[in-house]
Amino acid sequence: MIVRTAVALLAAGFASAALAQQPAGSADAGRKKIAMCEGCHGIPGYRTAYPEVYRVPLLGGQQAAYLLRALQGYKSGARSHPSMRGIAAGLTDQDMADVSAYYAGGVK
Ligand code: HEC
Repeated sequence: MIVRTAVALLAAGFASAALAQQPAGSADAGRKKIAMCEGCHGIPGYRTAYPEVYRVPLLGGQQAAYLLRALQGYKSGARSHPSMRGIAAGLTDQDMADVSAYYAGGVK
């Protein structure tokens, strides 16, 4: 009975995700996925030293749609920063939606 309910819920979840195309972002889920992002993005005024000295943009408080588009751009190659392309390549659509929702909510 419990198993059947869980299966039904899962199926409904997949169906709505497929319909919506873009998964809805969850700030709670995003919080658990940003540990490695913070190494670069969490430090105000931080500059990368490789491959060139570059200011790392702060993400907190930016619009979720903007962050999501930026991440999709790195993954697709439309944006060309080498470190971010490598990182975005390892993110699923759900990861991108979640971290965008988290950062848009402001970093606590
Ligand atoms: C190695 C350092 C580093 C790590 C780790 C890193 N980033 Fe970045 N990120 C950068 C740099 C540098 C830029 C600016 C690149 C550019 O100008 O295109 C950037 C840009 C971005 C942008 C675009 C911001 C804007 O204002 O245009 C987003 C969104 C982003 N990163 C998200 C993330 C997320 C999410 C993670 C973790 C999954 C992450 N980054 C991990 C260095 C890093």
